[in-house]
Amino acid sequence: MKKVDVIIIGASASGLMCAIEAGKRGRQVLVLDHANKAGKKILMSGGGKCNFTNYEVSAENYISHNPHFCKSALSRFTQWDFIAMVAAHDIPYHERSHGQLFCDNSSKDILTMLLKECQPLSVEIQLNREIKSVVKNDNGYYVIDIGSAKFAAKSLVIATGGLSIPKMGATAFGYQLAEQFGHRIHPTRAGLVPFTLQPDDKKIFSPLSGIAVDAVVSSPHKSFRENILFTHRGLSGPVILQISSYWQPGEAVEINYLPDLDLFEYLQDKQKQGSQQKIKSILGHLLPQRLVSTLLDMELLEKSLQDASYQQFQKIAGQLQSWKIKPNGTEGYRTAEVTLGGVDCHEISSKTMESGKSTGLYFVGEVLDVTGWLGGYNFQWAWSSGWCAGQYV
Ligand code: FDA
Repeated sequence: MKKVDVIIIGASASGLMCAIEAGKRGRQVLVLDHANKAGKKILMSGGGKCNFTNYEVSAENYISHNPHFCKSALSRFTQWDFIAMVAAHDIPYHERSHGQLFCDNSSKDILTMLLKECQPLSVEIQLNREIKSVVKNDNGYYVIDIGSAKFAAKSLVIATGGLSIPKMGATAFGYQLAEQFGHRIHPTRAGLVPFTLQPDDKKIFSPLSGIAVDAVVSSPHKSFRENILFTHRGLSGPVILQISSYWQPGEAVEINYLPDLDLFEYLQDKQKQGSQQKIKSILGHLLPQRLVSTLLDMELLEKSLQDASYQQFQKIAGQLQSWKIKPNGTEGYRTAEVTLGGVDCHEISSKTMESGKSTGLYFVGEVLDVTGWLGGYNFQWAWSSGWCAGQYV
């Protein structure tokens, strides 16, 4: 049986960051992953450009049953620390809306950087390793059985991520192992995921597939403003992914397609100014015609502004500025970017990421009940939590 100082299960964002930090402290680290490649999610992230962090990061950008938990790690290894690492490797990057930072070239740059950092250190990465069992022996060693071999270490880090994109190797391993050692798991569900529509709504809205509009979307718990995208399956786009993490099944979401305008007042003013235009053409200047014709009935749209009543203006404003729709559900883990819920953070040290149930056991990254918004926040959590554990394992 091979003994090392630290075993990390999961060779992706949080696991590799933890390996680098532990390696820098002179620890002998073994990283095990069942996939045939390290960092698959890094490679597919951000449309291939990896949105690796955000200029503005705070606890408000995360969802957790323990909302204060992430603060310590995020303040000790910040977005600026990660940006400095990216800069030290001469990786070109750029800012997009809302402070999001993306690679200019490819997500591969981030993975290569992490692997390069591991190289001079005592970090060994073994891929294609199926973990058969994990037990803690009487001497305090975690013994990992991969069938063909056994490995042991006094520090074991679980960095196996969440359930999204099973095709990429996502498993419930981390949750099961946490339960094995007495941890509570908050029920998991898909987050940052497109909505599917009720069959009747789908028939009405699927012809709008491809239309994107800047909108404010609100659930009873939260509002976001970004693009909404109609697809042949339902509703997507950044604003829908954001709200999906707050949405509960059965709830309606409210959509304002003209967030910078008081449409009721605008129509009244136009009428007072004597505009002879049809309602259809006035609205056609504000929003895609196909969207307007789907949300409002033709008879009303064909009316001249001068013939329309205040009540009709109110109806139009209601449809375009506080339109309610009840999604049928989400596309689930198949397309979700993250998993909500996970290992209860009340039982984990926010400073070291060590389990309060079993000495030497650590959890980092998405397997914990910490879920970021869209915008580089999930990677920042992976870097920060991995970095923290790396100081103590
Ligand atoms: P991660 O999921 O990255 O890694 C877990 C590792 O554990 C994998 O290598 C896996 O193979 C391994 N593993 C799992 N089960 C195992 C088992 N039983 N045995 C051995 N190994 C096992 N975030 C962001 O901030 N910016 C972005 O641009 C994007 N984009 C994005 C796009 C898409 C399509 C997805 C699906 C996700 C994103 N994300 C994102 C989210 C981000 O990818 C995610 O939050 C982090 O990768 C989480 O890092 P972890 O290290 O915790 O898990």
